[in-house]
Amino acid sequence: MRDSYVIKHMTDYRLYMSVHNKYSMVVLAQLFRPENMKLIEKSTETVCRQFMANYVDHHLPADGIVNVRHVMQELVMKIMIQCSFPTSFSELNLSIDQFIESAPQIDKNRRLLLTSVLIPRLTEYMIAAYGKVFGKKQQYFIDSITKMVGHRRRQLIDNNGFADKSKDFLQLFLDYRHNKAADKELTDYEIVSLFYVCYLSSYEPMCLMLMMAVYELAMKPLVQSRLYDELIAADMLVTNDDSSILELPFLNAVLMEILRKYPLPLTNRRAKEDVFLPDAGVTVPKGVDVELSFISLYHNSRYFTDPYDFNPDRFMAPAVDNQTQHSFIPFGCGQVVYCVGERFAKVVLKHALAKLIKTFEFKVADSTEIPFIFNRCPDILLPKSLNLGFKLRENIKF
Ligand code: HEM
Repeated sequence: MRDSYVIKHMTDYRLYMSVHNKYSMVVLAQLFRPENMKLIEKSTETVCRQFMANYVDHHLPADGIVNVRHVMQELVMKIMIQCSFPTSFSELNLSIDQFIESAPQIDKNRRLLLTSVLIPRLTEYMIAAYGKVFGKKQQYFIDSITKMVGHRRRQLIDNNGFADKSKDFLQLFLDYRHNKAADKELTDYEIVSLFYVCYLSSYEPMCLMLMMAVYELAMKPLVQSRLYDELIAADMLVTNDDSSILELPFLNAVLMEILRKYPLPLTNRRAKEDVFLPDAGVTVPKGVDVELSFISLYHNSRYFTDPYDFNPDRFMAPAVDNQTQHSFIPFGCGQVVYCVGERFAKVVLKHALAKLIKTFEFKVADSTEIPFIFNRCPDILLPKSLNLGFKLRENIKF
């Protein structure tokens, strides 16, 4: 009762910040343990297959000109729902459109993003002052998850604690027990908050990566056919291992190059001691926060020649072996902060991209506009729209 009251009156960013600590990282990391990854991969693969078949049969426009943003948002969200709470979502008749509309996204809070980049310390005050305004946009998302948690708990009681569900994320959260107190479960509020962090960290970046991937492949048809050939050749190899797609070198190189060209904005660290930076000739004093801009690292010709060119070959051997250490850290690095969703993101992005390329050939259309905010700087947020030509390939098997 108290939990649902808190959730109703909680603002999105306060909700986010309240669990944005090391403890929530530990719980989130449980979702992506190797033993769960097989299931996640299966779910992703199934959603991609069903999505493409349905899209081709019912939604592909006659002129083949597609707003890529809508396609990627729906595809990524369906994959995430399938991994998170597939049965509960359908049993409660929740609306996927409203869920997409209300999912936590930085895109919806540009003012906050800008402030957090320019004046990080002001962000907390902004959150306190404007939290309620921002929060309304995510209400459907928060209410839906609250309902699903309650629904699943009631099912568990009805079934004497037995969950007739595969281990979706919701069930993994419900089964989670704090290390130090074996019988202490996560509260409703904690579970909703964890889903909030999970969706905020993953939904928008994954949509952005897929959008920019098909855009770049449309711009470079030779790269596109090379990727297609690699995928078709892999299909011909008889293998029982679904994960073989994750090992394909060119698919991996394409994804890495997208992550390099369209990185997330920045990360930060606090100096634990005085640190001298020899190149800059300055000392960062102990206790000072340092913002690291991924774009200025990845778009620096010192580390990546011709950095604005989309060239996956820089991530193929032997070129990749000559990269400067830590010049490319798409999911962060270090022992304390890192991206807990790295494995999940790679599985989703590789499977989705592979299925897209095997189904369609992407072409630049007359209405395609370069989705950059400035001349060469990519928009770090989802482009509002991006039109591309989707030409159905022949002999597709879904
Ligand atoms: C394209 C996909 C993604 C990219 C490029 C990405 C990238 C990053 C980066 C660069 C960091 C900062 C790491 C550091 O400072 O060392 C990070 C942190 C994080 N990521 Fe991801 N990530 C992606 C997807 C995901 C997914 C699918 C999840 C799933 C839950 C996730 C959850 C997190 C979390 C919880 C953090 C820690 C946030 C913090 O403490 O500041 N990410 N991610």
